[in-house]
Amino acid sequence: NQLKAAAATAVAHPNIALIKYWGKSDERLMIPYVDSLSMTLDILPTVTTVRLGPGERTDQVTLDGAPAEGDFRQRVVTFLDLLRAMAGRDERAVVDTRNVVPTGAGLASSASGFAALAVAGAAAYGLDPDPTALSRLARRGSASASRSIFGGFAICHAGQGGGEAADRSAFAEPVPVTGLDPALVIALVNAGPKAVSSREAMRRTVATSPLYQSWAASSKIDLAEMRGALHRGDLAAVGEIAERNALGMHATMLAARPAVRYLSADTVTVLDSVLRLRADGVAAYATMDAGPNVKVLCHRADAGRVADAVRAAVPDCSVLTAGPGPAAVLRTEAGR
Ligand code: PMV
Repeated sequence: NQLKAAAATAVAHPNIALIKYWGKSDERLMIPYVDSLSMTLDILPTVTTVRLGPGERTDQVTLDGAPAEGDFRQRVVTFLDLLRAMAGRDERAVVDTRNVVPTGAGLASSASGFAALAVAGAAAYGLDPDPTALSRLARRGSASASRSIFGGFAICHAGQGGGEAADRSAFAEPVPVTGLDPALVIALVNAGPKAVSSREAMRRTVATSPLYQSWAASSKIDLAEMRGALHRGDLAAVGEIAERNALGMHATMLAARPAVRYLSADTVTVLDSVLRLRADGVAAYATMDAGPNVKVLCHRADAGRVADAVRAAVPDCSVLTAGPGPAAVLRTEAGR
C-alpha cells in the first residue's frame, strides 16, 4: 500500500568505552583500527522514528524537533542511502530523532543516535538484520554505535583485512559479565558541543601522532587484561585498566600536530578528586572521551559518595549516575 508508509521507532542508549576506539583504518566503511569494549548505559536514550515518504523528493531530518543541518544531516542522509541500497528501495524518509544526551559533547550521542537509526531504519525499509548485522550497520553511522546495539558490556572487533572482509568482520557482540555491580558517575563539566569533531581528531591523531601506534599496541594488552578482570568481576582491575587506556588515548591526541586537547581545567580537577577518593579507599576510576566530561567507574554502592566528591570538586557541574543499560529495541512498527 503506497499511501500508508512504513514507519518504525527505536530506542537506543549511549555506551561508554572502557577500552577506547580511536582511529579508523577505513573512513568510508568506518572500520576501527583497534578493538574496543564498552558499557551501555541505562540513562540518556535516543528515540528515533523513521517514516518512509513515497511522495518526498528529499529526506527530512529533525533533531530534537528542529530541522537538522550541515554535517549531522549529511551523515543521516548517507546512512539512509546505505539502507536504500541494502533494501533495493528508493523511497525518501522522514527521520525524527530525540536525544536526552546533549548532542556532540563527548557523551556518546552518536552511539545511541546511529544505533537507534539503524534499528528504526532497517525496520522501516523492510530489512530484517540479526543483531550482528545490525551492529555492523550501526557501525557505518558511527563505529561506537555498533556497541549500543547490545546491552550491558560489548566488545567491538576492529575487523580483519580490508574492504569487504573488514566490513564483514568489524562488529560488536556482548561480553558476559558476572559479579559486578558497577555505576558510572558522569561529571558534565561542559555540555556544549566540542571544538574538534571526533572524526577530524582521529584522522589527525592517526596521521601525525608519534604516540598513536604504541597506544594501539598497548590497547591490545589492555583489552586482554580487561576481559580477565570483567570475567573475575574485579572492579578495581577493570577501573585501573580503563583509566590507563583513556589517559593513553588522550596522550596520543596531545601529541598530534596540531594537538587535540579535549581535557579542560575542570576535567583535571575532577581527576584529582578521583585520586583523592582512591586514597580514601574508594574504588573510583576515570575515563574521558572526545570532550572534557569525566565518567567515574565505581561500585554502585559508592556512587553517591563519588557523586558528592565530584560535585564538591567542581560545584557548577551537573552529575548523572548510570548503571548498565539495555540493548537497542524497536518500539513500534506501523504500516507494514
Ligand atoms: O563517536 P565516534 O564513534 O566518532 O567515536 C568516539 C570514540 C570515543 O568515544 C572517544 C571512544 C569510544 O570508543 O567510544
